[in-house]
Amino acid sequence: MSLEIDFEGVKFENPFWVGSGPTSGTADKIIQALKAGWGGVVIKTVGDTIVRKGVRPMYSAMRSQSKELMVFENIELITEDNLDTWDKYIKKVNAEVPHAPIIFSIMGSSDISEWAKLAHWAEDHGADLIELNFGCPHGEPEKRSGAYISQHPDLVYEYTKEVVNSVGVPIISKLSPNVTDIADIAKKAEKAGAKAVSAINTISCMMGIDIEREMLLPPVHGFTTYGGLSGPAVKPIGLRAVSSIYKNTDLTISGIGGIENWKNAIEYIMCGATSVQVVTDTVLNGFNQIKEWTSSMEDYLKRHNYSSLEDIKGKVVQNIKEYSYLENLISQRDTIDEEIKKIREV
Ligand SMILES: Cc1cc2nc3c(=O)[nH]c(=O)nc-3n(C[C@H](O)[C@H](O)[C@H](O)COP(=O)(O)O)c2cc1C
Repeated sequence: MSLEIDFEGVKFENPFWVGSGPTSGTADKIIQALKAGWGGVVIKTVGDTIVRKGVRPMYSAMRSQSKELMVFENIELITEDNLDTWDKYIKKVNAEVPHAPIIFSIMGSSDISEWAKLAHWAEDHGADLIELNFGCPHGEPEKRSGAYISQHPDLVYEYTKEVVNSVGVPIISKLSPNVTDIADIAKKAEKAGAKAVSAINTISCMMGIDIEREMLLPPVHGFTTYGGLSGPAVKPIGLRAVSSIYKNTDLTISGIGGIENWKNAIEYIMCGATSVQVVTDTVLNGFNQIKEWTSSMEDYLKRHNYSSLEDIKGKVVQNIKEYSYLENLISQRDTIDEEIKKIREV
């Protein structure tokens, strides 16, 4: 049984990519992920003029009473390393894991020509695919880049088109969920010539307040800034985004958000994703879960007599309907109290 996927002409042994973030931020981490068995790696977003040192602390976690992770906040910027350092990282990765599929993530400033320059740089360094980071909700939006672009459909069109016209590598526009209708934004990327989209980037958030110390989280000398939410509890938002993009466009999709096991990945694929990306789970648990995830996914396909992941791609999307369609299916209703009782009993 093979988990191989074809993502816009690029073959991956399995659909699991380490997404852009701290676990894809150095050559050693990328090598470690690929050697552990991840299908691909999206490198930490690289930039040129916008590269700067980030603040500390930059992470905060919210856990359930039983201590399980619910969500994670970060106010991490793109890479702190310049392009010369990335040049060395890429050479090292290519030397240690030749032919491994690498997806380059890039972000320029609001100056559109910078995006084209970065895309050329990526292409010259052998990028198999280029992901445009239009989704980071902190740091850059106040300077009219990052999620600011996702939030302005015409900019998604313009920035995507600029890059598409500049390089031959297939382009993936990575979108923010902080928009009214993500499918409409995806359509703009499609019209501009993107072959694919990734969804979702993190959700703009404020993690909370330590009320005894009257301190915002994460605290930077007593101050904070709105950050990006990720981790298990964002999966429902990601599934909603991916399924609506699948319904409304012909784009290839990389599904992201809250994946913490192989079953979550199947959910994304059934909603229309071709590949999936994982960040928070790799930040907290490392890379070795991938062996169990791929073998369990293979078992699942065998048990259900599927021959490849293509057989389940988008399988459930036709059953997502407007409310009025569901109304007509119902003849008997629980009372609200009966339904709440069932929810409480789980
Ligand atoms: C600490 C951290 C840093 C991140 N940095 C980037 C980044 O540089 N570029 C990017 O496109 N997304 C970045 N992301 C967003 C992730 O790629 C991903 O879209 C998001 O975290 C949701 O996936 P998850 O729930 O598996 O973490 C970052 C996420 C985290 C948690």
